[in-house]
Amino acid sequence: MDWGLKNRLARIIKPQDRRGVMLAVDHGYFLGPTEKLEEPRKTIAPLLSLADSLMLTRGVLRTSVDANFPVPVVLRVSGGASIIGKDLSNEKITTSVKEAIRLNVSALAMSIFVGAPHEHESLVSLGNLVNEGEEYGIPVLAVTAVGKELEKRDARYLGLACRIASEFGAHLVKTYYCENFEKVVNSCPVPVIIAGGPKLATELDALKLTHDAIEAGAAGVDMGRNIWQSDYPVAMIKAVRAIVHQNATVKEAQEIFNKLKDVKKAVKAASSA
Ligand code: 5RP
Repeated sequence: MDWGLKNRLARIIKPQDRRGVMLAVDHGYFLGPTEKLEEPRKTIAPLLSLADSLMLTRGVLRTSVDANFPVPVVLRVSGGASIIGKDLSNEKITTSVKEAIRLNVSALAMSIFVGAPHEHESLVSLGNLVNEGEEYGIPVLAVTAVGKELEKRDARYLGLACRIASEFGAHLVKTYYCENFEKVVNSCPVPVIIAGGPKLATELDALKLTHDAIEAGAAGVDMGRNIWQSDYPVAMIKAVRAIVHQNATVKEAQEIFNKLKDVKKAVKAASSA
């Protein structure tokens, strides 16, 4: 692997433990003003120093993230469909590699839609993006998108999608956690990280999901809603970090979450007294 590419990847997946906590805030590119991400700057600011990297679009990066803060950026460069449109798989590359270099990004990210109407275009785009990324030493994160069909999240489908992404040269793959997740990880020769998906009923559920994924071999998370849709996002990202980087158990992570939540509650009560 070329030095530049290896160095950029090391900003995302930390070489010390080969794991990473990526904070996903790219949802607006097809969901518009997602709940609790209506004002991206407000959502991102308290979490910035707690994420190993930040996944987002150029629009949110330029408008809502302080350029003086040295957080590694994973730039979403695909798009072109919306949640109210006909087909979420109808994406193309929308941001150039030249622009990514101008923004000093650590990786490029795009979605692939295996088994969807625009499967072919998304896979060819992935191959082309890897070609360009390799030319400039920029790694590519492939997101195995499932569109509205959340039931696609099983080991057979996700294993197929992740493996295909790696065969096209993706340096890192993001997918969903599922039963028998070790099969997905073991058949994908590049690091696999998990999205959290829609917010789960409780923070404990999200911590269990993170723990199960790490135990099955995931290299970390690219998590959004289960962090910033929590009423205690800072406590949540710290608890997730403990699982990813310190091998914390679910119980230990929950204790971290509860402790920080209680402090926050006490501070709020004191300031409104
Ligand atoms: C959407 C994405 C999101 O970044 C991804 O789904 C992660 O966020 P969440 O944890 O909220 O699911 O790539 O295509």
